[in-house]
Amino acid sequence: MRTKCVLNISDIYITIPHGTLATSSPSAFLNRHTILSSFFISRLSRRGPKRFRDVPRVSSHSSPWARTYATPSKQKDRTAIVTGSSRGIGKAIALRLAEDGYNILVNDVHANEAGVLEVVKEVKSLGRNAFPYLADVSKLIEVERMVETSVSELGPLNTMIANAGIAQVKAVLDLTEQDVHRMFEINVYGVYNCYSTAAKQMIKQGGGGKILGAASVAAFKPSHMLSHYTASKWAVRGFTMSFALEMAAHKITVNAYAPGVVGTAMWDLIDEEMGKKTGAKRGETIKKWSEELIALGRTSVPSDVSNLVSFLSGPDSDYMTGQTIVVDGGMVYT
Ligand SMILES: NC(=O)c1ccc[n+]([C@@H]2O[C@H](COP(=O)([O-])OP(=O)(O)OC[C@H]3O[C@@H](n4cnc5c(N)ncnc54)[C@H](O)[C@@H]3O)[C@@H](O)[C@H]2O)c1
Repeated sequence: MRTKCVLNISDIYITIPHGTLATSSPSAFLNRHTILSSFFISRLSRRGPKRFRDVPRVSSHSSPWARTYATPSKQKDRTAIVTGSSRGIGKAIALRLAEDGYNILVNDVHANEAGVLEVVKEVKSLGRNAFPYLADVSKLIEVERMVETSVSELGPLNTMIANAGIAQVKAVLDLTEQDVHRMFEINVYGVYNCYSTAAKQMIKQGGGGKILGAASVAAFKPSHMLSHYTASKWAVRGFTMSFALEMAAHKITVNAYAPGVVGTAMWDLIDEEMGKKTGAKRGETIKKWSEELIALGRTSVPSDVSNLVSFLSGPDSDYMTGQTIVVDGGMVYT
């Protein structure tokens, strides 16, 4: 009669025919056990019988869905919405994602319509489709219509870039209630409106997706006269982490990018307003910050940020979620 001895090695079960171990002394048994174990394990790891191949194990092997977590692979034309993309960082992101193969909904407020139409033209000249959409991201209903339009004009939504934002330079005790409201309406409610509306659309589609928001180095370290801006960008980090946590089950990743001092219209305003308070001439504040606060010693350009956004929108960042990634030439160290 054949009996069986079952050896439990990690979570792999090996069956050894009776008789092999029958006459062994305890030490011979242990030696033989070790030899047999390594023999079976090396055989299993090389080719192994089929029933062992599906045994769960701690290893570098991951299932295909895990490797393509939030990036749909089958859809031919991926689509992205980039808010506040008529100029500056948003424009650089729209053009970079177009180069990456995305069709783009280009959004901004009515006042920047000319810029929106210009970016649409530039995206099309890269061989991608683009659609202009004027909307104020601080109004939920406008964001909902924007997402609907993006889906009907360009196809299923894969990526939302909640980039639109404003800055204001004021000492903390000079702020009015209205100042704080306006800052939060755009920088916090605007991002929340985009995150939640995009997430609902992606869940409806069922194929996962990527959601990104614009934070700032201000979300890590405060600066004088930018208190409500700083608070709004901390809130972007907070929403990014919380959305990441709850959207993971839907294969949606949520991350934020945190630029430093980027030479755009926003910094023209900061430079001018800070100069009024400190007596610095136009251009002096941004020069001083760039030389004294940035380790790499130069002002950032929008493509420094769009390079990061390209990575965060692509398959190479599929295993990242809930992160706010600093791209500032070395101002704050996280
Ligand atoms: N420039 C920097 O140094 C810097 C640094 C850190 C973070 N950021 C962030 O990056 C993002 C882009 O900044 P930028 O430097 O390109 O600024 P920018 O002022 O050049 O561009 C911002 C765009 O957002 C648009 N916008 C503003 N309110 C809007 C609204 N309610 N709805 C739709 N669009 C709206 C503006 O019209 C503008 O076109 C912002 O969120 C900003 O806070 C910028």
